[in-house]
Amino acid sequence: MADLVYYVAVTLDGYIADSDHKLDWLMAFPLGDDATPYDDFYRTVGAVIMGAETYSWILENSPEAWPYANVPAFIVTHRSLSIPEGKNITLVQGAASMVAAQARMAAKGKDVWLVGGGKTAALFAEADELQRLFITQIPVVIGAGIPLLPVSKVLNLKPVTQKVLKSGAVELVCDVVVG
Ligand SMILES: NC(=O)c1ccc[n+]([C@@H]2O[C@H](COP(=O)([O-])OP(=O)(O)OC[C@H]3O[C@@H](n4cnc5c(N)ncnc54)[C@H](OP(=O)(O)O)[C@@H]3O)[C@@H](O)[C@H]2O)c1
Repeated sequence: MADLVYYVAVTLDGYIADSDHKLDWLMAFPLGDDATPYDDFYRTVGAVIMGAETYSWILENSPEAWPYANVPAFIVTHRSLSIPEGKNITLVQGAASMVAAQARMAAKGKDVWLVGGGKTAALFAEADELQRLFITQIPVVIGAGIPLLPVSKVLNLKPVTQKVLKSGAVELVCDVVVG
């Protein structure tokens, strides 16, 4: 069965964005050519899921270039958010298990990228619907911001690979231990 993978960049102190939803600490960081190419990861993805805040951030910051053009996107929200014309985007709400099943079916055997943010990833993790984390940890501390995975229960992880890049960033792939 396809996995739900939370592929995300995080600061050393565990934030995926600063308190103003800015990603300057990430954009300014030269990851280097030994990082796993984004395209290699993206080839494994058949659908994406993201929360309302992340979706709104993307629409505000790159209105012209929807980054997930070739795969269906499921936006979890209680709001009637606007959808750019012609994009394969569906607004969904309800139990994480239901949304995960819908996205898995749409992914046609490929994995589902749980884009984030933290709140949405935590919701899926708490429902045992998150199988893997692919985290790129940037060597920067920002003191406050949007947390990586604010779960309300302990999530045990089994490391799969860990790679320290020449830039000082660390790629960490972990499986979520069930039970
Ligand atoms: N560093 C990175 O690689 C990275 C990756 C992704 C995101 N980010 C950043 O993370 C920030 C946003 O993260 P966040 O944790 O604050 O928010 P988020 O997870 O993107 O969105 C949370 C919102 O999604 C809606 N939602 C979630 N689950 C739902 C469900 N089951 N049913 C209905 N609605 C549901 C709710 O909004 P409503 O009820 O209002 O609809 C909830 O408040 C942004 O700044 C973004 O740029 C960074």
